Amino acid sequence: MNELTILAPDDWHLHFRDGDILKETVPATARCFKRAIVMPNLVPPVVNAQMAADYESRIIAAIPNGLEFTPLMTIYLTNDTSPQDIIDAKAAGIVAAKLYPAGATTNSDAAVSQLDALFPVFETMSEHNMLLLVHGEVTDHFVDIFDREKVFIDQKLSVIAEKFPQLKIVFEHITTKEAAEFVTDASEKIAATITPQHLLLNRNDLLVGGIRPHNYCLPVLKRNIHQEALRSVVASGSNKFFLGSDSAPHEKHMKESSCGCAGCYSAWSALELYTHVFEELGALDKLEAFASKNGPDFYNLPRNTSRVTLVKKDWQIPQEIILPNGNPIVPFFAGETISWKIKSDN
Ligand code: DOR
Ligand code: ZN
Repeated sequence: MNELTILAPDDWHLHFRDGDILKETVPATARCFKRAIVMPNLVPPVVNAQMAADYESRIIAAIPNGLEFTPLMTIYLTNDTSPQDIIDAKAAGIVAAKLYPAGATTNSDAAVSQLDALFPVFETMSEHNMLLLVHGEVTDHFVDIFDREKVFIDQKLSVIAEKFPQLKIVFEHITTKEAAEFVTDASEKIAATITPQHLLLNRNDLLVGGIRPHNYCLPVLKRNIHQEALRSVVASGSNKFFLGSDSAPHEKHMKESSCGCAGCYSAWSALELYTHVFEELGALDKLEAFASKNGPDFYNLPRNTSRVTLVKKDWQIPQEIILPNGNPIVPFFAGETISWKIKSDN
């Protein structure tokens, strides 16, 4: 097979950031994705409908002429989020609210410390059909970083799922066998996104032969049995799993540092990277559902109607991209050769 045409995909989890960098991040995604769920972890975080509307207009201003792209906005849950904030957000067209446990990752200091205090908010979300997106890691200092996702499932997610059976939950960027199993066994109200890096890599790719800061993200890469579990679940074609790149840019000097930031900037190659993985798995026939159908179906949004063609062709991901402020960023999988490319990019 030398060409593959699929319904145009969406990216159900990414970070655009704000300011000048939108001129880099928005075109990178809009080149092939029609919609994206935009994470709200700015500084300060996007916590209400007004902030989301302002952020949305800055994103829209960065869409290149002639490209059709719709950002899907989210708000960030804090200890102060009220049920009224949810009602207002829903009325303003916001599709989801994001739960970051305090201290879980980049810019999550404002996030939730006491989950129970948010139960009235979850109740309102459930009643108003607002999706809950979770960063599924506990942050207790005594829990090992490689166990944080599993402990989150056992102590938090299973409680939320049981208490709010009608609430739609996306378990974002899952990284473990336990998460894949939890979602597979859960009700149809629970789904998950999976990133390219967690399908392509395991923790050896972070630590063997030298530390590789550009493979560092959160949740951190796990051992290969977990990578294999994620690969199996996407190859299975289950409709509970869909594309969420978690493209998360940090400038080169912020990654190559004694305390490097978490996040992989994958937007320019995300669809191609997933295609590469699905081909390795002998599951190219499952790519379209993962990239273009399961997400909109779960969010109860229409599927896209246009199509995107990928061509089988080796190309190398660049070593660096220069951002609008002149600083370099190292894209995810820099220097690696992958075997599919979007046709219009030729
Ligand atoms: O690696 C990550 N980077 N994980 C996240 O959850 C957040 C993201 C970011 O915003 O940089
Ligand atoms: Zn993210």
